[in-house]
Amino acid sequence: MSGLLTLRGMPADRLGDLLDSGQRYVDMIRAGVRAPSRLEGRTVTIVFFEPSTRTRLSFEKAAHALGATVMVFAPEMSSTVKGESFKDTILTLTAMGSDVLVIRHVLADAADLAALWSGVPIINAGAGRREHPTQTLIDALTLRQHFGALQGLRMGIVGDVDNSRVARGHLAALPTLGIELTLIGPSTLLPVANPWVARTTHSLDEALGDLDVVYLLRVQRERGAAAGLSSEASYNRRYGMTEERLSMLKPTSVIMHAGPINRGIEIDDSVADGERSLILEQVANGVPMRMAVLEAALGERE
Ligand code: CP
Repeated sequence: MSGLLTLRGMPADRLGDLLDSGQRYVDMIRAGVRAPSRLEGRTVTIVFFEPSTRTRLSFEKAAHALGATVMVFAPEMSSTVKGESFKDTILTLTAMGSDVLVIRHVLADAADLAALWSGVPIINAGAGRREHPTQTLIDALTLRQHFGALQGLRMGIVGDVDNSRVARGHLAALPTLGIELTLIGPSTLLPVANPWVARTTHSLDEALGDLDVVYLLRVQRERGAAAGLSSEASYNRRYGMTEERLSMLKPTSVIMHAGPINRGIEIDDSVADGERSLILEQVANGVPMRMAVLEAALGERE
């Protein structure tokens, strides 16, 4: 694998190999076994132009765990503030000896452009509304751990789908793995076009009884989602995951959210912190899954 820009078109066996590799790292971490230093002598550069807690820190930890040298680019402390362009930043970080660039950016094309400019593998760590492929892999791994298999699971992706790169990553890959997707939300937050293999509905309450997984999306105020809502309280009444809605699910169904969560808007406290929530398992799988992605991007070295 030369970097990871998108999961679109990735065949099921390749996705399965990545999940298997992620699971091997999960098992090592749980057993307290140190991972082999497969990236020793390699430099992983983390280039985040948007805020992040989970993705940035888990990529850093994953790279360290594999023995890599890690450089972290912080735009607010960089020559970006002196007007250096994104292209010159990418060329500079590549010339400095980066072996892979892990990029988060507000622009949907950022990772693809970096791949054109730089000769090293690029990992898309969240590009505008385009895709967040490693989050999708983490979520597939989390579901496989919980249910044992993915084929035939029914997932409802609820809320601010139009602004969500997480949703687009899921739409790109989860049907390939056999997961049936339903997009649920008000028309103001659903994409106008639906070129994916996914149903859509505006009624969460009608969909709940059929779902194995309720995947809640953050209402992205920074991307203008609030303009599509009459109020956050009314959004919570129609689309928030409350205790009452939890009781409408099958007993085996689970709750997921990529984080960060807006408590009291798309998810209530007791649901986020409850026993059917996989949110912290998703976070825990971030490091091992990203170890697998880094290893695949840079190739194994004996
Ligand atoms: N899920 C996710 O991408 O979270 P961060 O923005 O904290 O990285």
